[in-house]
Amino acid sequence: MTTVVVVGSGIAGLTAALHAAENGCRVTVVTKGALPDTNTRWAQGGIAAATHPADTVASHAADTLTAGAGLNDPAAVDVLVGEGPARIAELVARGVAFDRTVDGDFARGLEAAHAVPRVLHAGGDATGAEIQAALGAAVRRTGIRVREHATLRDLRLADGRVAGVELDGGERLDADAVILATGGAGQLYAHTTNPSGATGDGIAAALRAGAAVADLEFVQFHPTALAVGSPFLVSEAVRGEGAVLIDDAGHRFAFDAHPDGELAPRDVVARANARAMAAQDGHPVRLDATTLGAERLAQRFPTIDAAVRERGLDWAREPIPVTPAAHYLMGGVVTDLDGRTTVPGLYAVGETARSGVHGANRLASNSLLEGAVFGARAGDAVARDRDWPVPPGDPQGVIAAEVVIDAPPFSRGALQEVMWAEAGVVRDAEGLARAAAVLAAWTADPSPRSIEDVNLLLVARHVVSAARSRTRSVGAHFRSDAPDAATAALSLPVPAAHTDVIPASPEVLAC
Ligand code: SIN
Repeated sequence: MTTVVVVGSGIAGLTAALHAAENGCRVTVVTKGALPDTNTRWAQGGIAAATHPADTVASHAADTLTAGAGLNDPAAVDVLVGEGPARIAELVARGVAFDRTVDGDFARGLEAAHAVPRVLHAGGDATGAEIQAALGAAVRRTGIRVREHATLRDLRLADGRVAGVELDGGERLDADAVILATGGAGQLYAHTTNPSGATGDGIAAALRAGAAVADLEFVQFHPTALAVGSPFLVSEAVRGEGAVLIDDAGHRFAFDAHPDGELAPRDVVARANARAMAAQDGHPVRLDATTLGAERLAQRFPTIDAAVRERGLDWAREPIPVTPAAHYLMGGVVTDLDGRTTVPGLYAVGETARSGVHGANRLASNSLLEGAVFGARAGDAVARDRDWPVPPGDPQGVIAAEVVIDAPPFSRGALQEVMWAEAGVVRDAEGLARAAAVLAAWTADPSPRSIEDVNLLLVARHVVSAARSRTRSVGAHFRSDAPDAATAALSLPVPAAHTDVIPASPEVLAC
């Protein structure tokens, strides 16, 4: 019987675990918090899939490719959108109660850069929490072993392949295969919508094991995180329902950047916000949702409504301050369409992986779908694979692996500020060179640190290295020293981080 360790317990990890177990594998899920403490749990907008008769997978694919600026792998996109409806049906069968219309059909929301409303949601804006609860319950029912509060220290290798994992504290778990599903690395940045556990653990462990990574320059910044108190995502679905962005003068500036205004691709709106903030001395821009009314806001967006009100704001009566924040990493550990990495026996799924599905920028609400689709494929593949084939060839942009386990004395906050200032929404050669020098200097003086900080430093160095290598702007990677024609007008500098407005790392969560 194949023994599998899945690291991470969000939608990608639990789906992979369920599929592997249902295919006869002996599965252990390892997670550094409690089972539900994941990035998935915080997902608001929903999960995109072509489930309406008037929608098509071709349309969903076209939107995904446009958002990705054509750098997507078309085969991965076809898998994502083609298998999406089946994975939605599977989630329903596992107990996810998506919101429905009075006719019993799925309620579908519109988000930026989607041609039609195709975003399914649950509990209004609690989609991730609903999915997390249903999959967690399914894992418990299936009898999959769960190790909570167990942090991955490193992968174990033997004879050129994965042999298991080592946990913080030294405990070792043997495995025929390991599936990395640890999410992204939003904690690289001073401002992020991600919980504190998003420290790139799987990507860093894969790098140390010699796995190929790619596309790490493509970091998605969400345009609208609440700029009061701790950063909190204000879903794009709010703009999909009609909310608009205004500057201090009340000007609706998003149309200056793109004909689709607030529903332009996410990177365009994030840069438009950053530019408007720069023009008003760094004050956050404002999201005006007042036309939706108190009742609709509370009913459709109960989670955001509570967060807004907790901060003493009334968004039914006045526009709320918002700012861009790091949200999603398009790059990661290079995989084939079944999650296989370049290290035999090692798989990666969800935000940890770079399957090629997102290209240079992810389409809104494709991330939960990615977790469901590629988690299922990896869980199926791990049960099938016997000789642990290595995918042929290295994709363009692969960075050579680097082994760094000792880390120097630096503070996570300092790293986050450097990344925000020099490798954030807008980059240029000089800033990236400064960041590279600072990060390199931090490697000079090894001392024991938390594995999360070790991981953040390693991933930060690779993000900066990748951003330096890609000298033209594309998708979420915007170089003010080489903007493309369409975005040249948005090349104003981003204001310094507003630490008085948005304290870094407020959430005490792990994934
Ligand atoms: C949002 O709700 O705006 C975020 C959804 C996503 O990142 O896909």
